[in-house]
Amino acid sequence: MSERLPANVKRAQDPGGRALLRLEHEQDAAEVSLCGAQVLRWQHAGGEVLWTASQPKYAAGQPVRGGVPLVFPWFGDHATDPKLPAHGFARNRTWTLVHANDTPEVVLELTDDEATRAMWPHSFRLRLSVVLGAKLRLGLTVENTGGEPFAFEAALHSYFVVGDVRTASVHGLEGLPCTEQAAEPEAQWDRAQPLRFRAETDRIFQGVPERLELRSPALARTVTLLARDARSAIVWNPWPAKTAKLSQMAPDDWQRFCCVETANVREHAVRLGAGEAHRLALAIACEPA
Ligand code: BG6
Repeated sequence: MSERLPANVKRAQDPGGRALLRLEHEQDAAEVSLCGAQVLRWQHAGGEVLWTASQPKYAAGQPVRGGVPLVFPWFGDHATDPKLPAHGFARNRTWTLVHANDTPEVVLELTDDEATRAMWPHSFRLRLSVVLGAKLRLGLTVENTGGEPFAFEAALHSYFVVGDVRTASVHGLEGLPCTEQAAEPEAQWDRAQPLRFRAETDRIFQGVPERLELRSPALARTVTLLARDARSAIVWNPWPAKTAKLSQMAPDDWQRFCCVETANVREHAVRLGAGEAHRLALAIACEPA
């Protein structure tokens, strides 16, 4: 697109000098990196909504630990080849700005090339729309531009500021089928109750409702996630032992965030025929509790 951007969408750089787009709406702003189409920040009247690790690295071809990295086309480790990047390659690639308007909205695009086809032999077009208003709205469209069907997993891997994770809770996942992937999980918990963080937590929920709530009493606020065409949710906090093994983290970083990911993974991987498209959408609201 031509470089004439609306007044409330500005080009800027992150602390590592990587290109980003800054969207402004009233007192709020959001920053979207062209690296990985990652939303890095959402500065909201109620404070920062998205968490960033305390030793962030803004390096070419790498996601920052925080904000909303994108997971595509596989979730977690690759099923057969451990050398391929965890959570797929979309978060490591440079995306292109294809549209901006004064809503404000930006649309970023990634298509297959030789390097992506070497990791995943399919033709695709990804588009991420980011809209800043009273809510932050994200829409991830995946289009099969090839001649053969494919299946993919995808997630908006959102990191949220919670103040103190030990007092935070996630509402809306009660009673749903769930797989716990943590190495040192809570021994047992009441699945009929809202999710509380009492140990390393890495749970994949399936058949999730459209609306989830993340309550953060330490900040006296509630984040509401309203999703469309997302059948899975992953709730993650690494607790101290796993935190020590993670990049960009200080030892006590685990206390201040959790991830609630809006996703289609495992049995809810999406199948697309030639020419078909799928759109996963998320609207995030942050309000005083
Ligand atoms: C979560 C996974 O989605 O992402 C966790 O469920 C994983 O198992 C976490 O540790 C972070 O992954 P990464 O690759 O960004 O360190």
